[in-house]
Amino acid sequence: RERTRTAATAVAHANIALIKYWGKADEGLIIPHTSSLSLTLDDLHTTTSVVFDEALDTDEAALDGRRLAGRALARVRVMLDLVRARAGLDGVSARVRSRNTVPTAAGLASSASGLAALAGAAAAAAGLDLDDRDLSRLARRGSGSAARSVFGGLALWHAGHDDASSYAEPVSSPLRLAIVVIVIDAGPKPVSSREAMRRTVATSPDYPAWVRRSAGDLAEALDAVRTGDLPRLGDVAEANAFGMHGTMLSATPPVRYLTPASLAALRTVWRARRDGLPVWATMDAGPNVKAITSAADAEAVARRLRADLAGVVPETNVIVAHAGPGIQVR
Ligand code: PMV
Repeated sequence: RERTRTAATAVAHANIALIKYWGKADEGLIIPHTSSLSLTLDDLHTTTSVVFDEALDTDEAALDGRRLAGRALARVRVMLDLVRARAGLDGVSARVRSRNTVPTAAGLASSASGLAALAGAAAAAAGLDLDDRDLSRLARRGSGSAARSVFGGLALWHAGHDDASSYAEPVSSPLRLAIVVIVIDAGPKPVSSREAMRRTVATSPDYPAWVRRSAGDLAEALDAVRTGDLPRLGDVAEANAFGMHGTMLSATPPVRYLTPASLAALRTVWRARRDGLPVWATMDAGPNVKAITSAADAEAVARRLRADLAGVVPETNVIVAHAGPGIQVR
């Protein structure tokens, strides 16, 4: 019989949640406690190629030229195993090559773009013909937020209650949004989002209240998205994010991603808003601050933040990101 050797490449973009995913109802399947809403970004993306090759003895993977081992490799293999099981490729090893324009594991959504690109490339290389919804469900198994990176622009991830019902889909809006990323620290975070979520769900007395309010936050955000009401969207996104960080701080032991530099950056965002710029803050599992604004105001916001941060947190890098495309597979 012919030797199996099939290859594919996928490009997936990072996304930043406006209404957050924080906490799993099912850790194995990655079913979240809450639905979430995000914006996929243009600049920050991951390109991944996968080759299934019978000549390989074992799975191998490299990220930005560095060979992966241990946990990072195990994470890749979880996805490869899911794809192999579906495609009947048990026993066929893969070579994975990945390039990131997103700093890895720094709360800049590298796991979203990375695991979405891996899911897309692996599925295509294995000959699986998945529609976007099924690809979203597959990407979710690698990293929850990756379910949303299958789609461009705004994406809504329905929490669902099982593997079939937990997937993302695109949401249309008259809003032209942008995210101005204040990169405070591009290094890896001290606590993984996986561990931090587990701790929050298990120990924070505030977590159930955040889950309850999240449904209302999402409904309000979706309404603001449909009607093109940026101030309403910004207000609810900011409140939802700091509610999430509140649940982390009240976990035992506390999970603290905010640093003094994060607080200084938040202050510049809030000052810019006080002075009339349409800008709201959000934060994820890391110290970096993301400013939500309109595409039309993004450059003005970035200029203002750069100027204000220069004297306070001189090392910061401010990146303007606009809405980006969904996954591309070839
Ligand atoms: O990277 P993940 O899929 O384990 O989840 C990260 C979750 C947050 O970025 C903190 C929030 C979100 O909805 O993206």
